[in-house]
Amino acid sequence: MKDKNKIILLKLGGGLLTDKNKPFSIREEVAKSAVQQIIDADEKVILIHGGGSFGHPLAKQYSISKGLNPSIENQIFGLTQTHQSMNKFNSYLINLFLEKKYPALSIQASSIFIKDSHKISTYSIEIIKAALDLNILPILYGDIILDKQGSFSIISGDQIILELCENLKKYSVSKVIFTMETDGIYINDKDTNGECTLATECNSDELDSLNLANLGQKIDVTGGIKGKLNFIKQICTYNIPVQLINGLKEGYIYKSLKNQNINCTNILINK
Ligand code: IPE
Repeated sequence: MKDKNKIILLKLGGGLLTDKNKPFSIREEVAKSAVQQIIDADEKVILIHGGGSFGHPLAKQYSISKGLNPSIENQIFGLTQTHQSMNKFNSYLINLFLEKKYPALSIQASSIFIKDSHKISTYSIEIIKAALDLNILPILYGDIILDKQGSFSIISGDQIILELCENLKKYSVSKVIFTMETDGIYINDKDTNGECTLATECNSDELDSLNLANLGQKIDVTGGIKGKLNFIKQICTYNIPVQLINGLKEGYIYKSLKNQNINCTNILINK
């Protein structure tokens, strides 16, 4: 039974859905399984997905996250191309829902958010509420964002989530789930001879002092795991619990949406 005003924000990481080392490559089985689990869980959700190999390589090539730079050849073209590449990836996912007759609606962050002196305007997020009221699954994705000062940058899926936590007044966010290709946050544990272990529970006020294990970084213009932890810290200031889960493990997305037990990282709120 859906609680009318409670909502779960679910992020499907780009590194999970695509092969980040191979431009424009979708991991189709992973994407199809994720979509089926979301349909089966049938909770009130906003889905946000990352860029993976559809977003990061182009954004890096044209230095989009650093803003307008006239010395970069074809940068504005690259900006629009980055958006279109994300749009194409998003269409693929939307179609997976529609093929199953599940109403999903693409909402482009680049059309509803604009930056004004580094602050993001959320004036148009009413549209997300209107979609939720109609029991439509809104799907947003990491995208380009224009600004009123004549420049631009990237808005990541994680940033979108933070904006939604702050500004979705009618719907209260009961949980944020980050779906990745690992079980959660790994730390170097001195008790296990330097081997890294999964942090299954972590208090929000400990996030800064975690001794993060280095699991190798893939190309990421939006900050990698450190950047994610910074967003998570801010999400926790709204008293919203956060879960980081492995989207490659059978049924984990469904179980997390249904609040069933899984091996993952839970970020607990310090009261
Ligand atoms: C990045 O979004 C979007 C672009 C580079 C256009 P995210 O930062 O949320 O993507 P992932 O999850 O890390 O791939």
